[in-house]
Amino acid sequence: MGKASILLLALATLLLKTDSATLPADDLPTNYEYYAGDGVSSGLNADQKYFLLNGKNITIFSGAFHYFRVHPSQWRDRLRKMRAAGLNTVETYVSWNLHEYQSGQFDFGHGGSDFEEFLDIVQFIQIAYEEDLFVLVRSGPYICSEFEFGGLPSWLLRSEGIKIRTNDEVFVNFVARFWKELFGLLSPLQFTKGGPIIGFQVENEYGNTGNSDPDYLRALVKIYRDNGITELLYTSDPPSVGTRGALPNELLMTANFNKNPSGNLNALDKLQDNKPTMTMEYWSGWFDHVTEDHHTVSTETYSKIYEQIITHPASVNIYMFVGSTNFGFTNGASSLHAGLDNSGLQPDTTSYDYDAPISEAGEITEKFTATAKLVAQYNPVKTKLPDVPSTPARVVFDDIKINEQILLSEIIDSFPDKIASENVVSMEQLPINNNSGQSFGYVVYRKTNLNLNANDVLKITGYVRDHVLVLLNGKLLTPVLSSKSDLDKFGYWRVKDSTITLTSEALTDATLDLVVENNARNNYGSLNQFQQFKGLIDDVLINDEVINNWQIIPLEFKRSWNKQLTGWHSIETSEGTPALYRVTFNATSPLSDTYVNVQEWRKGIVIINGFVLGRIFAVGPQQALYLPAGLLQEGENEIIVFEHFSAPEYVKFSADPIWGVGTHIN
Ligand SMILES: *[C@@H]1O[C@H](CO)[C@@H](O)[C@H](O)[C@H]1NC(C)=O
Ligand SMILES: *[C@@H]1O[C@H](CO)[C@@H](O)[C@H](O)[C@H]1NC(C)=O
Ligand SMILES: *[C@@H]1O[C@H](CO)[C@@H](O)[C@H](O)[C@H]1NC(C)=O
Repeated sequence: MGKASILLLALATLLLKTDSATLPADDLPTNYEYYAGDGVSSGLNADQKYFLLNGKNITIFSGAFHYFRVHPSQWRDRLRKMRAAGLNTVETYVSWNLHEYQSGQFDFGHGGSDFEEFLDIVQFIQIAYEEDLFVLVRSGPYICSEFEFGGLPSWLLRSEGIKIRTNDEVFVNFVARFWKELFGLLSPLQFTKGGPIIGFQVENEYGNTGNSDPDYLRALVKIYRDNGITELLYTSDPPSVGTRGALPNELLMTANFNKNPSGNLNALDKLQDNKPTMTMEYWSGWFDHVTEDHHTVSTETYSKIYEQIITHPASVNIYMFVGSTNFGFTNGASSLHAGLDNSGLQPDTTSYDYDAPISEAGEITEKFTATAKLVAQYNPVKTKLPDVPSTPARVVFDDIKINEQILLSEIIDSFPDKIASENVVSMEQLPINNNSGQSFGYVVYRKTNLNLNANDVLKITGYVRDHVLVLLNGKLLTPVLSSKSDLDKFGYWRVKDSTITLTSEALTDATLDLVVENNARNNYGSLNQFQQFKGLIDDVLINDEVINNWQIIPLEFKRSWNKQLTGWHSIETSEGTPALYRVTFNATSPLSDTYVNVQEWRKGIVIINGFVLGRIFAVGPQQALYLPAGLLQEGENEIIVFEHFSAPEYVKFSADPIWGVGTHIN
């Protein structure tokens, strides 16, 4: 071998070293070594037809994972699984309503709110970094996401005349106050500062409001920049709305869709010149409204469209990649009608499984395997990937006989701080929670000392927001839920000016309770659909006479309150009466995930060790609530079920999700 060929060989070896594609898997660089190993001089750049990160070509293979919907003990497992699928990026929304749980009161992890352990966003991003993923942050302020009020805090509604999601000074100032706190934490985690965040989204599908407000979007951009955010900013909309939700020539536009990839991506490419193409939401499945069948999308359809997106060519974020949960009262709702017309409300289920590549319980699915195969095939950048972590088996605890009960009427009777009010008012307007009102749960309107004649009729003008239980002297008058069509009758949100006969005989000194459940604030639509007061907001009449002088009882089911409930007694009646039921059971280490089987219940909530796990609604489709091990403790655990109507004898569990309608529903 001559000198020249030795030199060539050396050169070839050198070239091979930099061409990671030919290296054995063990010697591949990590994602960070590949993009940032030689130091960072620039972040994500969209100034040409393709993305550059730190000067190197990158196709973003991202997946959506919302930290506030997965117990933090599982964050690393889900993130490692994403990386094992070959993804190089995780995308998350930020839930303003959970972080600023009262006006001016923030929780970014263990800050004392009911969701405190879910809110350490810095920890989440740090784990994503450790698991070799870049991060895209969609800070809202509005996030849609089938989340309560689209992630907006309900206390915003207390500012009279506030124009949510507009350049209204009042609204923008609230955003600025929250983002100052948020970006104080996230700014040091930007890619060019040595962290994993490569981009931030401005607003969310703003074009879908039907409105165009570039000044509002620019005001948001200014808040980003004023708080030290220097990475790429972008907007995201279905291309069919054109540039209505965008700032063309200022911010990168991205697309959201689940079909017709070439049509959608060509439309996006037409909207902006010489920019990279990216799908910010490729919908892997879909969410469920109550009463619907559980939605699924076949792996074949999913994979075909995913491949068409990649080969367009485009970067892509799979929404959702990690199926998850609307714990507590955080599910969103769609609203089919504008403004204060509540009749078109469609609440979403507690499960946000979404038929995603990773299921709500963390299992990898066929879609996961299909995704991994396509990313390996099409990402020319080869980096080191972890093995797929195994998913621990779930446990099915024995059925537990229910022996303890408190009637709802007992709770209302003994509630210490009843609020006196001339008129019925919405839960948001109540002078509680440091003047932030009530965001979640139930609100009771009590009227005492009523003298009633036989056949007196109660009328709730306007709409109940969203479900009312009428108790007269503690006895339930609202019919027991037994079919989907009951939702069109008295007691539910669909009926305007609804009426019910109170009594068949005259009564003196009677007590009337209207127990109203907030089933979720709308999370989507035109700007006039963000008027979202809950409870009762219009007059309540008996025989056409307005009733005044109420006592109002906020039943928030907060953790601290749930944990100190006293007065449990043996079962007096479990038929046709709202009541709380309590069981305890022992769990041993290692703790395992399970599902609470709610097929035999009708409507209400399940509380585990004080934390509201989610909602029961026999009209379907969800009939089992995912209970992650992280919410259990070694030794004794407590489950409380608040049931509006009729309870079974046992609390039961399940190893798997159950989709359908409850056993008592026809
Ligand atoms: C990045 O990709 C584009 C389009 O495929 C190509 O023209 C360009 O040379 C690449 N740039 C780098 C730095 O590799
Ligand atoms: C009430 O809110 C104000 C400002 O938003 C805050 O300074 C104060 O500490 C809060 N008080 C309580 C008791 O939470
Ligand atoms: C849980 O275990 C403790 C200690 O072994 C025992 O005293 C208690 O009765 C058990 N509780 C239940 C509900 O089985």
